[in-house]
Amino acid sequence: MLDQGVPPNNSGTASAPSLSARLMRRKPVERLVAEGGQGEGGQLRRSLGLWQLTTISIGATLGTGIFVVLGEAVPKAGPAITLSFVIAGLTALFSALSYAELAGTIPVSGSSYSYAYATMGELIAWVCGWCLVLEYGVSVAAVAVGWGEYLNELLRGTVGVTLPAALSAPPGDGGVFNLPALLVVLLATVFLLGGARESARANTVMVVVKVGALVLFCAVGILGFRSGNYENFMPLGMAGVSAAGATLFFSYIGFDAASTAGEEARDAQRDLPRAIMLSLLIVTVLYVLVAAVAVGAKPWQDFTGSEAALAQIMREVTGQTFWGTLLAFCAVVAIASVVLTVLYGQTRILFAMSRDGLVPKAFSRVHPRSGAPRDNTLVVALFCGVLAAAVPLGQLADATSIGTLFAFALVNVAVVVLRRTRPAMRRTFRVPLSPLLPALGFGFCVWMMGSLSAVTWAVFGIWMAVGLVFYFLYGFRRSRLAAPASPATAENRPGPKK
Ligand code: ALA
Repeated sequence: MLDQGVPPNNSGTASAPSLSARLMRRKPVERLVAEGGQGEGGQLRRSLGLWQLTTISIGATLGTGIFVVLGEAVPKAGPAITLSFVIAGLTALFSALSYAELAGTIPVSGSSYSYAYATMGELIAWVCGWCLVLEYGVSVAAVAVGWGEYLNELLRGTVGVTLPAALSAPPGDGGVFNLPALLVVLLATVFLLGGARESARANTVMVVVKVGALVLFCAVGILGFRSGNYENFMPLGMAGVSAAGATLFFSYIGFDAASTAGEEARDAQRDLPRAIMLSLLIVTVLYVLVAAVAVGAKPWQDFTGSEAALAQIMREVTGQTFWGTLLAFCAVVAIASVVLTVLYGQTRILFAMSRDGLVPKAFSRVHPRSGAPRDNTLVVALFCGVLAAAVPLGQLADATSIGTLFAFALVNVAVVVLRRTRPAMRRTFRVPLSPLLPALGFGFCVWMMGSLSAVTWAVFGIWMAVGLVFYFLYGFRRSRLAAPASPATAENRPGPKK
């Protein structure tokens, strides 16, 4: 099969393409890779190695899910919450394998958006990119809301006051405006404006703090372990376990963040697949250990309505405020790093979409001094900051999960399509047992999507409808692949299969 957007007619010249041909125009892998790093007026800098890429993925993954959403999920599954983490982790694992193969084959910044563009055509790529705004842009807001909860816990433990609800919760949650959530988005924006290397440095320090905090939690929490808390392991049956799994899937979102750094990685083809798999392994082990210790130390029924659950457990087990406050401090740092790295990912995905003409050029303009897309960063920060300040966490987290699952499902399809269309391409990592594992990954994603509520589906439907309107009004016409096929454009001419 040819990697071409516009099918030629028999005489070899391009005919007026049909609507479906235009919607299915694909961007050749070679062109995606050749354009890597290029933006409007400058280039992104290649400064990231395996360690930084791994910490970007861990940075984007470990955060609100384990520190906050765990407390919401335990009442759904009971002590079997560990099983819910394993189910959510399996869903992530199958998709991570597909991400790893594609990131090593198409090492660019657009992540699954670019993979879809190379394999399934522009319309699906757009849909995928639009879903990634839910995975990245909306999740930044959700994560920032979780940050506010731990900030309050920290303030309570250190200065004995908390921010009034009016200033620390959005309208749907009994407040007016979530100021802490807005503040952490602005803080992350300052780092991002400094460039990828500076952001990666700050992120590495934060990742060390958060991994250390969870290890500390396990070491202290185990002292309060009561085996009686594990009686009645699955009080709400398998339905409860899978519902909690769907909620907890949020905590795995972000392992793919390294794949948004493809154009700033020193050796992207070698390091991206490794970073994705390594980060997923580290967070899964931590999640299962933390969940097992948490429900061992605190009866599952007592999690209902608890905010900052891990800090509370530390306080209860030790009988000292200090430990709870220390954990709250680490959580504040931890969640800030998710905001930083996920915000980073969103800017880089929009960068790639802008370079392809699907969103305005301003998103791929590179600032000459920092080598970072400054205007892009400011727009994304504004969007996320407003959402974070005004919308409750639960609604944001579910919208994030459904968008992410949809994007992951597409990646599982993309890996199989690329194996068929470009079997000889160099792959630094291959999904074992393909197409079985990608098919399982696809199935798990669809199953998890089915566990989400009707309201979440309605929000998703509206989101996709808005995205399609935007595509047909803007990207469809301005796509760089929409330019008439030029005889000089090699990828638009028929040729041997590569
Ligand atoms: N996985 C990220 C978190 O839990 C979104 O904060």
